[in-house]
Order: sequence, then structure tokens, then C-alpha cells
Amino acid sequence: MTVIAIVGGQWGDEGKGKITDLLAEKAKVVARFSGGDNAGHTVINPYGEFQLHLVPSGIFYPNVTCIISNGVAINPAVILTEIDDLHNHGVDTGRLLISDRAHLIMPYHILLDGLEEERRNKGALGTTRRGIGPVFADKVARLGIRTGDLLDKDIFWSRLSAALELKNAILKKVYRVSPLSLEEIYDQYCHYGEQLAPFIRETGSIIREAAIKGAFVLLEGAQGALLDPDFGTYPYVTSSSPLAGASCIGTGLGPREIDRVMGIFKAYSTRVGAGPMPTELKDEIGDLIRKKAHEYGATTGRPRRCGWFDVVAARFSVQINGLSDIALTHLDIYDSFPSIKICTAYKFNDEVLTSFPSDIAILEKCQPIYEELDGWQESISGIRNFEKLPVGARNYMSRLEDLLTCPINIVSVGPKRRQIILVKPSTLP
Ligand code: IMP
Repeated sequence: MTVIAIVGGQWGDEGKGKITDLLAEKAKVVARFSGGDNAGHTVINPYGEFQLHLVPSGIFYPNVTCIISNGVAINPAVILTEIDDLHNHGVDTGRLLISDRAHLIMPYHILLDGLEEERRNKGALGTTRRGIGPVFADKVARLGIRTGDLLDKDIFWSRLSAALELKNAILKKVYRVSPLSLEEIYDQYCHYGEQLAPFIRETGSIIREAAIKGAFVLLEGAQGALLDPDFGTYPYVTSSSPLAGASCIGTGLGPREIDRVMGIFKAYSTRVGAGPMPTELKDEIGDLIRKKAHEYGATTGRPRRCGWFDVVAARFSVQINGLSDIALTHLDIYDSFPSIKICTAYKFNDEVLTSFPSDIAILEKCQPIYEELDGWQESISGIRNFEKLPVGARNYMSRLEDLLTCPINIVSVGPKRRQIILVKPSTLP
């Protein structure tokens, strides 16, 4: 069968959860490979409505093994709450596994995330304050604590004491706040460890074995390409890679195992937090998109910045992810629009740019150059067949495909699981 990586094509919140939920029906394994509980998506299905931050969307299917892989940072309180919530709604969590290599978000990561944001003052990144920057910084600084460490209390004590000594010195001397108690964190995390122990194990071999046996494996990303620490709008980025390349490192699969990379794009653009967004609409059109699509962060509740589809940014995302397919979500949000704009290039001083600049000082000065297409002005949320879409909607998709040089194989026309159009069903597993 196939290994498909699912990644966010823009600045996150594109609807990866819904597409994973859809494809997971036939999957053997669904593995999350990056991010942490900064991610969040709503899944609506017959069990109810769920806000998932860490558990892969495949959890709702009884045959799917769901894995939170080594590339994900785990806040144990959050994962335990999600497991409880799923359990209370009758969802079996017995097939959920957590990598013993996944790093743990500790109380000092969350505290330092907030303190660092306050120190940045006007230059704040607008992080989710979930401890993401500090936990991934500790991972590469070789100061992190992993889920597997919770399984041996002596090892956990020695790793925690070493890390906390440094963190408390920073809290006291740099930020002048009270230090944290080693004993309290130790007791709390030992308790988490006891509850999480049945889920924690080595997971890379399970994913590799499934892939080698030819099973259908889905690798679920978090955030979006333009928040990548290398290729995104640095420093206004997150701290783990949302790109398809990270689906290997974040799970333990080799690059040759990935058959397809599906990029999820909204029919328009959104961004939460600070940083450049050339097509942002600070007018009634932006407000209308926000209102119709309920564009508020699933994790923080912050209003999302909304704007027209940005082809310059999206084409870059197609390239750096090596996309084979696109799923276009929220197309129905444009139902009432008489016309729709697409940004096809940027104007920077006297130059016309068609590639995405690496320097945000340039990006901040870029003015979008738009192409305008006719809308369709009818409801498409009940349509399930590509041919039945109004001409305006098909033209919009076809223009995006041409500009992005990548086929759109799935279109989402509403929040519910079945509000979906498979453009070429035979090409999907
Ligand atoms: P952090 O990941 O919490 O450190 O936040 C860094 C930036 O990434 C901020 O602008 C956040 O708003 C943004 N961000 C993090 N996670 C998500 C997400 O799941 N969706 C959209 N933006 C996100």
C-alpha cells in the first residue's frame, strides 16, 4: 500500500486533522511526527466534537494503531486529559502508543516560554506559550527529558535534578522569579509516568514494519511550512519542523519509504501570532472570512489573521515539501463572494518577486499583486462530486493547480467528516 505524509501548506490550521481523519479509515498506522500541544484541531464525527492537540486523528477507527512519535513534544497533563476525554466518549484508546524517545514538556518550559515572550516585549513572537520553543531548545542542547525516562524513577530524578539546577539559576538570576521545586515536579511527573507507562514504548519499529509490509501508513504533521525554523518566516516560526522531511526524522522512517506527500491548504490564508503575512486583509473582507470560517485558534482562542490565497508562499511550500497532492479546505467559505483574489507575485520596491524571500525585512515590505477571479455565489457544502461544483469553484481550483503545479485531489466543503469531494477517488488509497 502506501505511506502518505500529511503536512500543513501555509501557516498552520489548514485542516490536517480533518483530512487525516478521512484517510485514516483505511490506514493501519497513523503517526504524529512533530510539534506539540501548540497544535490543535477540531474533529467532528459520530462520537462527538473533539479538540485534539496530541492524539492522532486516526484514534476514532478501531483498526488503526495511533502513534505519537519521537518528533512530538509531550505535555503529559494534556495527553492524559485527551485520553480521558476520548475514553469518556466511548473511544478506545488501547491502540494509542507514545514513543519513549519523545521529549517531555516540563513546567519550566512553559514558564520560560511566557517569560521569554515578555522579555521580547514589542518583538514578541506570539507563541502559544505551551513551552514549545524551550522544550525543543533543550532537546538540541542535550538537556531534555524523554518519556522513556519516566519509566525509571532514578534516571528521571538524576535528569530532572541536572536540568532544574540550570533552569532555576536562569529563573532566579535572569528573570528574577522564584525557582521551582525539584520534589514537587518529581512527584507530579512520577504520577504522570505511572499513568502513561502502558502507552510508552519504542515506536519507530512498528511504523517501519508496517511500511515494509506494505500497509497504509499516515504520517500526520503539525503547524505549516511557513512556520518551519529553516524555511519559514524566521524568527516568527515554531521550533520543530512541520515539513515532510521531518516525517522521517520524527518517526524513524527512511526517506525512501514515503510514497506521497499531501499538502493541506485553505482556500484562503490565515496566520496566528506575529510575523509577516503579505495578503493579510485588515478590512471587512478579512473580518467576513474570520466570521464565516470561525477563524479562532483551537489552542489559544486567538482570532486568526485572514487574507487571500498567497501563491508565492504556497508554491514555496509545494517545493520545500516535495508535494505530490494538495487537499484544499474551506472552499465553501467563498460561497457568497462575488469575486476572489489570488496573490500571484509580490511587488518589492520596483521589483516583481515570484519567489518567497528568505529575509522577513523584505517580506514585510512586499505588496501583493492580485489576479481576480469570478466567484460562484451558491452553496457548495452539500456537493460531493467534483463535476457538480459550480464553474467558478472549478475555475478557482484549476487556476491554483496551474500556479502551484500540483494536483488538488481532495476538496473540503464544510466542517463535517463527509463534507468532502474526492476529485480523483481512484488515486487515493
Ligand atoms: P510556538 O509554536 O508556540 O512556539 O509559537 C510560534 C508561532 O507558531 C506562533 O506564531 C504561533 O501562533 C504559531 N503556531 C504554533 N502552533 C500553531 C498551530 O498549530 N497553528 C497555527 N499557528 C501555530
